[in-house]
Amino acid sequence: MQNYSIEGLSGGRLPFLTPAHLRLGPPKEEPSMSKINIGIIGFGTVGAGAYEVLCANRDIIASRVGAEVAVKKIADLDITTDRKIAFAPDRSLFTLDALEVIHDPEIQVVVELIGGLGTARQLILEAINTGKHVVTANKALLAEYGSEIYRAAETQGVGLGFEASVGGGIPIVGALKNGLSANRIQTCIGILNGTSNYILTQMTQEGIPFDRAVQEAVRLGFAEDPPTLDVEGVDAAHKLAIIISLALGAPVSFKDIHREGIVAVTPDDIRFADEFGYRIKLLAIARDLGRRIEARVHAAMIPRDHILANVNEAFNAIYVEGDFVGPNLYYGLGAGGRPTGSAVASDIITLARNIRCRNQISMPPLAHVNRQVKEISIQPMQDLVTSYYFRVSALDRPGVLSRIAGILAQHQISIASVIQKGRGETGPVPIVMLTHEARESAVQKAISLIDQLDVVAKKTMVIRVEGGRP
Ligand code: HSE
Repeated sequence: MQNYSIEGLSGGRLPFLTPAHLRLGPPKEEPSMSKINIGIIGFGTVGAGAYEVLCANRDIIASRVGAEVAVKKIADLDITTDRKIAFAPDRSLFTLDALEVIHDPEIQVVVELIGGLGTARQLILEAINTGKHVVTANKALLAEYGSEIYRAAETQGVGLGFEASVGGGIPIVGALKNGLSANRIQTCIGILNGTSNYILTQMTQEGIPFDRAVQEAVRLGFAEDPPTLDVEGVDAAHKLAIIISLALGAPVSFKDIHREGIVAVTPDDIRFADEFGYRIKLLAIARDLGRRIEARVHAAMIPRDHILANVNEAFNAIYVEGDFVGPNLYYGLGAGGRPTGSAVASDIITLARNIRCRNQISMPPLAHVNRQVKEISIQPMQDLVTSYYFRVSALDRPGVLSRIAGILAQHQISIASVIQKGRGETGPVPIVMLTHEARESAVQKAISLIDQLDVVAKKTMVIRVEGGRP
């Protein structure tokens, strides 16, 4: 998990910038092609993981590149703490000054791993404008300022690698750029946030409520405290924005992606879902609808025997359908220093191969040279058509179910199954139902009317269903 929040650490200042470096220009001499020099900015969990794999697998990497790949400088705010990793870098590699890395004429690839938006954005643009190839794991930055960064890299003709921004060690970015490049990507459904997946797995397997599962995840180091960006779907939406941008060759902003988290999911929902044959997962869903794109992140019920329903703990998985290749599944660890470091190193290797062969960069950041999609139009959530699960908390009295069913019927929502749990002698009872396919706008209107009924005790829980019937 990324350790750095540069705003948090520095109070918004730019700790790496010194005026002296702003005067330095691009490299004048061409460095040796038998050794490719790398500079790392940000030496937290991922930086250390990348450094370790570059050292541990130095021989095989040299064989795959055809040149030695060496880390020449590392910039970090903390250059004194012993990282306690195998292959700890020599102290002489460290600097407090990120611009010293960017402007070192012998460094050809700059790796940004500080995270955050402000300083990271400036450093990446500075590196690109200095003619350096860039590798980053910064999904938030790409999901928010991607168009500026992609354009800058293309204009300068430098490479931009961001394999580590989605799915940790899973090579999904490479798959979309290379292995699936002959296909129109029709569907992507991802479990892209390991923290939420860990929490939902604990709730499912142990029957514990959300808050306890969060505490457990924090205690075991699977979640930050508090894991707001994870459990509110922000992290998954960042990653989905990058996947869609790559699939279509045009940047999409994560702000345009409908996003809900898992905070409202209860152990009851998980139990009722199980009775209907489903599991609850935080899904990131993208579909090419022709003129528009479906793009949404929310808790969803998927059939228990669906391959994604069985992705548990902190694992990530991405299901992709291409028009010729059909279904593909990518599965692995979506976080952690070693898997994410492996993804960072893979980008370094790709760029190092290019450098060794003195090639022009042939892969634009979004892997499309002549973009056919100028602007991506995301379908308004109101137009979504899918099946739904409702959990209504209602008083257990004659006629209640028919009033609820009446409102659903008025909105063309057809019920597929319904169960009432228990007898409500002491208070409201859950009435849970599954619908056939219905329109989101109709569901929202119907639920708001149901929630106004005097027999309904609290807000109805709505969970969308994905992946058909069990
Ligand atoms: N916070 C992320 C997750 C890991 O829980 O999956 C880094 O992307």
